[in-house]
Amino acid sequence: MPLRKRSEPSPDTPAIRVRGLEKVYKMGVERVRALDGVDLDIARGEFVAIMGASGSGKSTLMNMLGCLDRPSAGEYELAGIPTRRMNAARLAKVRNERIGFIFQTFELLPRATAIQNVMLPMIYSRKHAFGARGRAKSALRRVGLGDRMRHRPNQLSGGQRQRVAIARALVNEPAILLADEPTGNLDSNTTTEIIRLFTDLHAEGQTIVIVTHEEEVAGYAQRIVRLRDGKVFSDGPTGEDALHLAYLQSMAGAAARRAGEGASA
Ligand SMILES: Nc1ncnc2c1ncn2[C@@H]1O[C@H](COP(=O)(O)OP(=O)(O)O)[C@@H](O)[C@H]1O
Ligand SMILES: [Mg+2]
Repeated sequence: MPLRKRSEPSPDTPAIRVRGLEKVYKMGVERVRALDGVDLDIARGEFVAIMGASGSGKSTLMNMLGCLDRPSAGEYELAGIPTRRMNAARLAKVRNERIGFIFQTFELLPRATAIQNVMLPMIYSRKHAFGARGRAKSALRRVGLGDRMRHRPNQLSGGQRQRVAIARALVNEPAILLADEPTGNLDSNTTTEIIRLFTDLHAEGQTIVIVTHEEEVAGYAQRIVRLRDGKVFSDGPTGEDALHLAYLQSMAGAAARRAGEGASA
């Protein structure tokens, strides 16, 4: 067997490999099955959009992929590394060094400047302890905020705050970038700017998974995975997804017309 260090997965190892993933939330005596047997492979360098109605399990799936929470059952391998048996400390390290997470509400520290916010992940990882400030600066320049490094979040617009969050997510060179409704709090011009940034990062080879409920935003991804009731309902290239959706809508329209004709007859 060829020797390969764990940190260097083979090029065809998927960035994400999920099998039979389940998540059950317990609320007193009630149980909510938020994920119900999800299988998903995402190749390195892919740009995938996750869609689905509110409550379909999108955020739950992202939290599992981001190692922010553990599944109730199933397997998750991140860049070929199984996460199931990791203890909390190891999981936190993987999360910090290999995953960049972007939230709808930015989640910046309000009293820290842009550069301080971006430096935070490096404080916890020894990987980039040296040159942390320089790395943070170049990450901020990368997202177009070279002239806003000493601004605090309340001195920045929504789009600029999200750029700081993206710089923070990128600074440890994560294996995957996960974004849960990153444009949910932004106006349409700012949404377009942020999505352009994602497509640029994708063109540079970054693996990206984004949750959105906007078809237009999802249209920038290469592939759309739709969830329904905690299951993968459809999964395909973005062009095919649009055709598939148009087909389903035309069939539903035809069915409704027939029902209408039936009722008036
Ligand atoms: N922490 C939690 N405790 C209990 N139920 C939860 C929790 N988080 C999510 N849920 C439930 O799990 C289901 C999926 O939620 P979520 O993943 O947030 O959906 P989405 O992001 O697609 O809107 C919903 O029914 C939601 O109410
Ligand atoms: Mg959600």
